[in-house]
Amino acid sequence: MRKLVFHIFRYDPQLEGDKPRMQRFELNETEGMSIFIALNKIRAEQAPDLKFDFVCRAGICGSCAMVINGMPTLACRTLTSTFDTPEITLHPLPGFELIGDLSVNTGKFMRALSERVGSWIHDENANNISIDKLEERMEPALAEQIYELDRCIECGCCVSACATKAMKEDFIGAVGMIKLGKFELDPRDKRTSKDFYQVLGNEDGVFGCMTLLGCQDSCPKDLNHQTQIAYLRRKMLMALN
Ligand code: SF4
Ligand code: F3S
Ligand code: FES
Repeated sequence: MRKLVFHIFRYDPQLEGDKPRMQRFELNETEGMSIFIALNKIRAEQAPDLKFDFVCRAGICGSCAMVINGMPTLACRTLTSTFDTPEITLHPLPGFELIGDLSVNTGKFMRALSERVGSWIHDENANNISIDKLEERMEPALAEQIYELDRCIECGCCVSACATKAMKEDFIGAVGMIKLGKFELDPRDKRTSKDFYQVLGNEDGVFGCMTLLGCQDSCPKDLNHQTQIAYLRRKMLMALN
């Protein structure tokens, strides 16, 4: 097994006088070692104050996203053996508030985005709920389409991988389009095409996307952003007529 050399971004914005820097750690690689395992070992043996986030360790919660050798991705699903080189560089996801070291506040970002795009079912009659009423039927193919978008784990990789988002802070990005797109498809959401156009039909929405596709390249859930963005663009153009 190899000796791995980690170069890890360190900076605590809460600590007065602290400065951003890279810190070097050496570690013996073990079989099946993920970046998650490596970071835990480094924290246990060499740097007890190292900050990084994990919850599920199974590619489900989205909290362990970071930039690994230049690519935003999930640390719990990335094996050290993926890399031919023993040198591994870790940075926090750009585009989010830095909590410290490799930990960023994606939760705050995603909540603000959800509120901005209204990512919930809008139905004026939703309060008139009757337990005796039968659930409305939905075609399985449509349910499947909505489910596909619902697989987004809000990890933030697509936000960090998008140069448009880096240049335009208010751009809703791929995750915003995924979030809103599933409600646009859902017949239980009573918003009209014009309502969706208010949010998406502008330069901060679908018309600001330059089809750079860093979002699709970096999405750990392999969502098809290209198809989704093209679909929403068509729908927004149709809403104008
Ligand atoms: Fe992560 Fe993909 Fe969702 Fe973007 S669309 S937040 S990359 S799961
Ligand atoms: Fe950005 Fe993806 Fe569009 S990377 S520019 S949101 S195709
Ligand atoms: Fe949950 Fe990695 S720890 S996705």
